[in-house]
Amino acid sequence: MNPEHDVATPTAEDRVRIFDTTLRDGEQAPGFSMDRRAKLRMAQALEALGVDVLEAGFPQASPDDFAAVSEIARTLKTTTVCGLARCQDGDIDTTARALEKAQRSRIHVFLSTSPLHREHKLRMSKAQVVDAAIKAVERAVQLCHEVEFSAEDALRTEPDFLAEVFSAAVAAGATTLNAPDTVGYTTPSEMIELFSYLRAHVQGAEKVIFSSHCHDDLGMAVANSMAAISAGARQVECTINGIGERAGNAALEEIVMALKVRAPHFGVDTRIDTRRLYPTSRLLTQLTGQAVPRNKAIVGENAFAHESGIHQHGMLKHRGTYEIMRPQDVGIAETKLVLGKHSGRAALRQRLEALGHAPDEAAMEDILARFKTLADKKREIHDEDLEALALGQDPQA
Ligand code: KIV
Ligand code: ZN
Repeated sequence: MNPEHDVATPTAEDRVRIFDTTLRDGEQAPGFSMDRRAKLRMAQALEALGVDVLEAGFPQASPDDFAAVSEIARTLKTTTVCGLARCQDGDIDTTARALEKAQRSRIHVFLSTSPLHREHKLRMSKAQVVDAAIKAVERAVQLCHEVEFSAEDALRTEPDFLAEVFSAAVAAGATTLNAPDTVGYTTPSEMIELFSYLRAHVQGAEKVIFSSHCHDDLGMAVANSMAAISAGARQVECTINGIGERAGNAALEEIVMALKVRAPHFGVDTRIDTRRLYPTSRLLTQLTGQAVPRNKAIVGENAFAHESGIHQHGMLKHRGTYEIMRPQDVGIAETKLVLGKHSGRAALRQRLEALGHAPDEAAMEDILARFKTLADKKREIHDEDLEALALGQDPQA
């Protein structure tokens, strides 16, 4: 492979790179494993979605993971394909072999840096950690197009030591520096503080992309990712539907839409084709058999559904009253005004008219009264129920 380390490109254009790890951190969570065919299908969907970097797996983990990463590397055309490796020669060499056929390859080497991990997991001194990071990055640099270095448990690492390890990784040739909140412990203000500190103290900071990788143990993965972006991170690591270890990773669709909907606030965008967000989310649920909760932001069944009469009335007057983005922008056909016991006259009349009925006021009074009685018994009212009500029949007969 011909290594070409273009450190100027990362900062040439101000945008947020989407590093998708659905097939690595996402897939390694219980209940979300996928076979090779499923992974390839998902990888192609992610390329069509427009992710910048796709972490396809951890090739040293198993022969199947190796095969999946190789197949994805051979197939994708424009997306950088990435494989994860510990700071060990065997991992790095295996990952390089799996990525051999990629149009553009990235080896992602990682090593824990926090005191807790250094002492109890690695049993390594600070100096040994720095040394191992340098050796791993130097080796990986010879074997692929670009190298990312991750300091596992970065958010619980002494900031000055983190800056020291990162500076060493940059000198060794890493072009992306990732600071993961491995255990989902941090808060948005701490995130801003750390990323600002790193940008000011890492030697060579101006040549590299800083990246965040947030887990959702306290439900703050997306908020923490957004905070990192505010403090200058230009890569975010995330997964479709937020799948991932324990409570999951930051949800890709939420980060992307937050940047879009709050564009003036963040002032930086991604290359994602947002109209593919919902279809990609659906594909993942089909491949893994794991549905998303109804109330999941952006892609949940209720994300663009309104049942309360007050909201439906507002929506019929001006959709901006209760919707901050259009369903079509994320690939959902239309807003749903769900008819149930909380719905009112306006939505009921609109639906009846769409079904070809034009009741006068007296008929409408009668239909509304029978509709409310029915809605107390049934969770959702369907078109057949409305047809029956409009025709004076009993929908439950
Ligand atoms: O959460 C984490 O720290 C990771 C690293 C391997 C990047 O997934
Ligand atoms: Zn992770």
